Amino acid sequence: MDRILVTGGAGFIGSNFVHHVVATTDAHVTVLDKLTYAATQESLEGLPDDRVTLVIGDIAEPEVVEPLVADVDAVVHYAAESHNDNSLSDPGPFIRTNVVGTFTLLEAARKHDKRFHHVSTDEVYGDLELDDPKRFTEDTPYNPSSPYSASKAGSDHLVRAWVRSFGVRATISNCSNNYGPWQHIEKFIPRQITEVIDGRRPRVYGDGLNVRDWIHTEDHSSAVLAILERGRIGETYLIGADGEKNNLEVVQAILRHFGRGDDDIEFVRDRAGHDRRYAIESGKLRQELDWRPQYQDFDAGLEATIEWYVANEAWWRPHKDAVEAAYAAKGQ
Ligand code: NAD
Ligand code: TYD
Repeated sequence: MDRILVTGGAGFIGSNFVHHVVATTDAHVTVLDKLTYAATQESLEGLPDDRVTLVIGDIAEPEVVEPLVADVDAVVHYAAESHNDNSLSDPGPFIRTNVVGTFTLLEAARKHDKRFHHVSTDEVYGDLELDDPKRFTEDTPYNPSSPYSASKAGSDHLVRAWVRSFGVRATISNCSNNYGPWQHIEKFIPRQITEVIDGRRPRVYGDGLNVRDWIHTEDHSSAVLAILERGRIGETYLIGADGEKNNLEVVQAILRHFGRGDDDIEFVRDRAGHDRRYAIESGKLRQELDWRPQYQDFDAGLEATIEWYVANEAWWRPHKDAVEAAYAAKGQ
């Protein structure tokens, strides 16, 4: 594959993938990104101009999308509205970008017969009980809880239908919660790290026993590239790194890093419809494509991520100021 279009390539996970492609292949990458509040454009600085081109535009606009898709060998689709809390207060942009945007890209991929990889989330499967012996597999029925996860489920169904009805050469991946550098401070781990840096108490929703299955974003990128290069057309692959932790465990590790007490936590009102537990069984990806995560020690990955936020305040501070002002206005 010589030329790849990466939608949402200026976001947290998409930009990591762009770095991964530049470092491990000879492909040229075109990034299509609307540069919403969530973009981390600085993360693309320093990449060679002859390998990466940034196009600012909206995936839901066919006249923007079509010529870009026509010009590449493959599309890797990351662009999305991605934060559950925002989807609860204002679902509209989630439907437009995640559903209509994916439809627009699929139509262009169909017209120009392009390889398409759709990046999705394990949240499309709903949640598990804390003591459920099962984890999510590729056969778990869809059961999304929030407007965000419902919009991602809708986009997955469109991809499946475009494969079956029109023969689009697509694959799908559903990944668990990512962490690492450049994640927007509205998300759990960066929010809590930056709260503690600011001397405040981390705000944990509900009883804090909700479990997320954490994976480092570098491992997500290597998995997506493996699927793009070697995945079977029409197949779905779950991506996970056996990183189950409850939210209290994560916050306590952050507090300990800064020498603060384990119980210095503020429990706040629970998120509406809050999914209890996500957990991924990634055997298909590991067996078929021989993929393995490099970050197997979550505590070490979290330490490195904390250090990164300590060293990169100039990047996240304006985002934090904007988010905190918005939360204050909404009384959150
Ligand atoms: P993000 O919010 O950090 O980045 C999203 C990017 O998409 C931003 O750069 C934004 O500007 C861009 N974008 C938004 N709307 C757009 C539009 N209409 N047109 C063009 N660009 C647009 O998100 P992320 O956390 O990097 O997630 C990337 C993808 O991975 C999403 O599809 C998400 O559903 C999926 N995913 C995320 C996680 C996670 O833990 N964050 C886990 C599994 C899957
Ligand atoms: P989040 O990063 O929003 O990801 P997702 O909703 O996609 O899993 O939240 C991760 C977990 O952390 C989730 O159980 C909600 C919880 N959470 C808090 O307890 N406090 C917070 O301030 C945030 C943003 C999330």
